[in-house]
Amino acid sequence: MQLHNRRAADNPLDKHIGTDGQLDEQLLEQLAFSEKMAELGKLSAGMVHELNTPLSVIVSAAQMILREEGLSEFTREMVERIDLEAQRLSQFTKGLLSFARQEEGVVTEADVNQLLREVMAFLKYEAQKRSVTVMEELDYHLPSILADGNRLKQIFINLIMNALQAMENGGALLLRTSMPDDESIEIQIADTGTGISADSLGRVFEPFYTTKTAEAGTGLGLYITKSIVERLGGKMGVQSVVGEGTTFVVAFPLS
Ligand SMILES: Nc1ncnc2c1ncn2[C@@H]1O[C@H](COP(=O)(O)OP(=O)(O)O)[C@@H](O)[C@H]1O
Ligand SMILES: [Mg+2]
Repeated sequence: MQLHNRRAADNPLDKHIGTDGQLDEQLLEQLAFSEKMAELGKLSAGMVHELNTPLSVIVSAAQMILREEGLSEFTREMVERIDLEAQRLSQFTKGLLSFARQEEGVVTEADVNQLLREVMAFLKYEAQKRSVTVMEELDYHLPSILADGNRLKQIFINLIMNALQAMENGGALLLRTSMPDDESIEIQIADTGTGISADSLGRVFEPFYTTKTAEAGTGLGLYITKSIVERLGGKMGVQSVVGEGTTFVVAFPLS
């Protein structure tokens, strides 16, 4: 198990300045990365504003249609999808903005099992349309953690959507929670999808790293997910075998 967790206190520049003051290649990469991030911050603030207005119009129009009587089952189902997806997009863009601003959100006692179930209810259609069987092994004695519930949902949505997208021809998704010791809780999201090659495995947490088409992926999901996890004091890791499947593990400390 590879656990990725770079503490904020680790200055990545420290080990890259040689005795002659020369900067090495890794540092240049680091700088290019910071530039990308600054750009992302600027971009997202403008983007969220431009996107949220039309999105709220779409959501309210869809909800007005849903209030009509005598809709066919097909129309109702399709409009419900428009409504859900527009709401999801709106949550995502808001998340992107607060991420760029490093906001903390509303911290409460969060019930991870409950949040996982809510997210899965929300993504049920995505699983059904790919013939994916969803299994849950939730530890009912799991203590709650102090965190922003919406932020946790964003983590689970990103990981579950990735898992489903890796199983376009069916498979199984397992959501598991456990308490490996007295000090932490663990969430595992496992799929029987394509798997990730050894080369890609080291890059999946990089911003803009994607193997999907422009419509299907931005390459920001795991980067943002990992940043949220680490900001909450947690760690995340991944295990994968090509052709067999992938397991993402998120661990949070009990404070
Ligand atoms: N469960 C998974 N199974 C297989 N590949 C995955 C999985 N999760 C992530 N990946 C790989 O990691 C890449 C980056 O994921 P992510 O950051 O969420 O961006 P995106 O989903 O937009 O491509 C994906 O393009 C895919 O190649
Ligand atoms: Mg993704």
